[in-house]
Amino acid sequence: MEKNHKRTLVTCALPYANGPVHIGHLAGVYVPADIYVRYLRMRGEDVLYVCGSDEHGVPITIKARQQGCTPQDIVDKYHGIIKESFTGLGINFDIYGRTSSAVHADNASGFFRKLYEEGKFVTRESEQYYDPEAKTFLADRYIVGTCPKCGNEGAYGDQCEKCGSTLSPEELINPKSKLSGAEPVKKKTTHWYLPLQDYEQWLREWILEGHTEWRPNVYGQVKSWLDGGLQPRAVTRDLDWGVPVPVEGAEGKVLYVWFDAPIGYISNTRELLPQSWESWWKSPDTKLVHFIGKDNIVFHCIVFPSMLKAYGDGYVLPENVPANEFLNLEGDKISTSRNWAVWAHEYLEQFPGKEDVMRYVLTANAPETKDNDFSWKDFQTRNNSELVAIFGNFVNRAIVLTHKYFEGKVPACGELLDVDREALAAIPELRASLERNLDTYHFREALKDAMGIARVGNKYISDTEPWKVAKTDMARCATILNVSLQICADLALAFEPFTPFAAERLRGMLRVGLDAGFDHRVGEQETVNTYREGEGAALHTVHAGSVIPSEAKESFPVVLTWDRLGEADLLPVGHAIGAAELLFAKIEDDAIQEQLDRLAAVRAEREAAEAAAAAAEAAKRVEPQKAECTFDDFEKMDIRTATVLEAERVPKTDKLLKLTIDTGIDTRTIVSGIAEYYTPEQMLGKQICILANLAPRKIRGIESKGMILMARQGDGKMRFITPQEVLNNGSQIG
Ligand code: 2FM
Ligand code: ZN
Repeated sequence: MEKNHKRTLVTCALPYANGPVHIGHLAGVYVPADIYVRYLRMRGEDVLYVCGSDEHGVPITIKARQQGCTPQDIVDKYHGIIKESFTGLGINFDIYGRTSSAVHADNASGFFRKLYEEGKFVTRESEQYYDPEAKTFLADRYIVGTCPKCGNEGAYGDQCEKCGSTLSPEELINPKSKLSGAEPVKKKTTHWYLPLQDYEQWLREWILEGHTEWRPNVYGQVKSWLDGGLQPRAVTRDLDWGVPVPVEGAEGKVLYVWFDAPIGYISNTRELLPQSWESWWKSPDTKLVHFIGKDNIVFHCIVFPSMLKAYGDGYVLPENVPANEFLNLEGDKISTSRNWAVWAHEYLEQFPGKEDVMRYVLTANAPETKDNDFSWKDFQTRNNSELVAIFGNFVNRAIVLTHKYFEGKVPACGELLDVDREALAAIPELRASLERNLDTYHFREALKDAMGIARVGNKYISDTEPWKVAKTDMARCATILNVSLQICADLALAFEPFTPFAAERLRGMLRVGLDAGFDHRVGEQETVNTYREGEGAALHTVHAGSVIPSEAKESFPVVLTWDRLGEADLLPVGHAIGAAELLFAKIEDDAIQEQLDRLAAVRAEREAAEAAAAAAEAAKRVEPQKAECTFDDFEKMDIRTATVLEAERVPKTDKLLKLTIDTGIDTRTIVSGIAEYYTPEQMLGKQICILANLAPRKIRGIESKGMILMARQGDGKMRFITPQEVLNNGSQIG
């Protein structure tokens, strides 16, 4: 069960810097984490929000090789793109570090060295594939061969991407090194292993007994790993890209990427807070929460905790690991290699000003309990029928009418009727549910609660019709608009975690600030400031480690705080609000069609490539040998050379040509089914081989005497047989 803590350390899975981030990453990890952090900060909690690029591992070296550049070039490029995408979406980590940094190299090797010196590892000698030409050990990904399950000739040593089987290099048929093409040989190598089985009992107690509240998908995966029995896990690799193994005799070895990456969370914290990082990582007051995708569960729930446990020294363990399942795109698995994705950086370019829409849609469809689908139609509907038609429409009506009837000042609230009381009473209930859901990582449900507030407002203003009431009863109209504006202020709070840009725009319209009350650490000085929006800078542009922007914004007389969400007097009577601006804009069909067309083109390209590959495979298929025949059987066949004298199509057929041929014996007619492969013109004058003594047959009323010999490939493609040099017609073959 969760304990009370003084501070929360939130980490997000470090994305691999070998490609940009896509909506699957955002929905799985970064959007929910950002909602959580913004929420905690609004509640005045002390939060540190850590992420960075994961810059090691074999795929990065492969990509560098493919592109003819260095791994560093690759990670530099994608680190920049990824970092910018996060900022663009309002996801502002306190630090976005990188595992190729000096701080990390130092921190990760120090971590390894301590475990090494304390005898926490075991060494094992094993035989691994080695490329004798390139003179290097080969990671599984560097070995290609034929999949034993489906026959795909391009399977990797760890996986066949065609049939999805997990493989080991030993299983590949005809394995070849990707580096040199040479056949890999087995060679002995020694590696360090963390004996995970030693931590099994402890993991059982800590998670299976102590954290029954974890999401069922996370708990279930942990349980099945533990029930399956843990094995020692290699923490080093023979590779030239990564953190070198800091012990003697380990030349050419680096830390395994899954050993160094989670240490990256600590390294990045150290980089941000060189003096006080331990107060986050080694204090029982810290609540550590890892946001990850489901493929990372074992590393964050079993391997990394075991590493921390082995290290000792008071490292905190995660209080929760709210891992998400996967998001699909238009019914298909998102895949970087197949270009089936919506890339964050492209989205930001193509939909400027719509950062919140993507955040909203990804949360509304978050794959929290099962894989879920993103579709562009749903994206459009959620924007147009929810954000625009409910939230935006309500706010717009409340603000426009306040200007129309009350010169833009919050009008007085008179006597409340039932309809008013009901609307007002619904908000604290929704707030309670919102908090409960956010506290327990149910972000989809939480968003429904926030949207519930907008629905209450929209229904209230539709039911009470202040534009009609204004004609007869200005005092009543004032009450309705007062209540409506209070609900607008509630929305400016409730939506801050989900759609921070819109929430900020709304606060601008209402001319209110936000007291986020969160700690603000300024780099080296590590000072702590309480921060108020409207007196400094926008909430989501503040990073620890950065300096508060100097140009202060206009300060607002009214400042909202989360703890007052749902109170009926957030905006005082007489408070002057600003003009109505568009909170959300409609998304038209053509913008959606453009996206669908792009995906259709990707799909068509993929299908064409798959069809071509399938045809190439089929072409290689060879029919099994026929039953034995005798020499006498063969001798019966009179096979000879002949030359085509005339050729024409047989009318009303697609496949047949009528050929007049000189067989050396006579001139005769053969009807042959080769029109699919040759035009009459192509056959004219060609020397061919025929079975001359085949009994004559009538085909389409034409007498055909003999048969043209053809070779037929596995995919059905046929070619006639011709002697290697022109011979006299009638030459016997055999
Ligand atoms: O799955 C991934 O994208 C990994 N790069 C996540 C690493 S998380 C952490 F341990 F650094
Ligand atoms: Zn396969």
